[in-house]
Amino acid sequence: MKRVLTGIQSTGVPHLGNILGAIVPAIELSRKEDTESFIFIADFHSLTTIKDAETRKKNVYSVAAAWIAFGFDTNKNFFYRQSKIPQVTELTWYLSCFTPFPMLANAHSFKDKSNRLSDVNAGLFVYPILMAADIIMYQANEVPVGKDQVQHIEIARDIAQHFNNSYGETFVLPKAVVDETVMIIPGIDGQKMSKSYNNFIDIFLPEKELEKQIKFIVTDSKELEESKNPDTCNVFKLFSLIADNSAINTMREKYIAGGYGYGHAKKELFNIILKKYKVQREKYNYFMQNTNELEALLRVGENKAAKVAQITLEDVRLKLGF
Ligand code: ADP
Ligand code: TRP
Repeated sequence: MKRVLTGIQSTGVPHLGNILGAIVPAIELSRKEDTESFIFIADFHSLTTIKDAETRKKNVYSVAAAWIAFGFDTNKNFFYRQSKIPQVTELTWYLSCFTPFPMLANAHSFKDKSNRLSDVNAGLFVYPILMAADIIMYQANEVPVGKDQVQHIEIARDIAQHFNNSYGETFVLPKAVVDETVMIIPGIDGQKMSKSYNNFIDIFLPEKELEKQIKFIVTDSKELEESKNPDTCNVFKLFSLIADNSAINTMREKYIAGGYGYGHAKKELFNIILKKYKVQREKYNYFMQNTNELEALLRVGENKAAKVAQITLEDVRLKLGF
């Protein structure tokens, strides 16, 4: 079985960009027969930026509920909170003694964060070692990530290699998998949709609030009667990511013909989101109101994951003479 592993930081409710760019493709991959997927919520990592306990708990549930709502099979695969298998912090310590300091000092993501954030803590600096432990603890072969995370996977691979060279085959060397075909989903302002730009669409919102987010999508100021260019319009782009081909073509024709306003297009986008994600919205809300059921699913996953982690950790302890 090929092991595919990825972690998702619990920094908020997953938005349409996260769903189409990460959650849906990962779920498709997890359905393959020769693959078992380890999907975990990187709540330890989130402590580098989020300090409030209630916010963290709520975010963890939001992320978990989104994965379940979109159909992640927690029986076939592994689904867990990073913090519930705290052995990962022990492995992090061991690995940190095999990590050359300059390798961390050169990490792009650390440089970027230390320029941007006011709280530059040591957790941000050692973040890639915890991430390496996340990956090699479970002997993952492939790690699907966005481009910004590739360097972190290379660090994990280097650390694993360094350890194997000193103590013999211990860790599988992980490989980053970047799906170049996944589109960058645009936000309401046309830039990449991101929590950090506050330009996201949260498809799980109650109808009125969702409609309001959609109303804020930026368009040009063409009048109702004028012909419009669908290919430069954010509303059309988002609609095209969700609707079927015939609906897309019909909307394209209406744009070109004129007499069709951006308000109409936004209404159609709103309706298609409600229709396409009806079940997912219901499930998400159900689980957010019944977090005990999420807890139960996560606990099963955590028991399974802990067994895998324990095997690796015992081997490492033995080799290190602990
Ligand atoms: P954000 O930018 O909102 O903080 P993250 O960096 O937490 O999002 O991304 C989590 C996952 O979602 C990553 O795998 C990332 O590649 C994917 N993702 C985020 N935004 C987009 C987007 N606009 N289009 C496609 N994929 C995205
Ligand atoms: N650092 C990743 C991110 O911000 C999240 C993450 C933590 C992760 N541990 C991981 C991703 C292990 C892949 C594998 O997106």
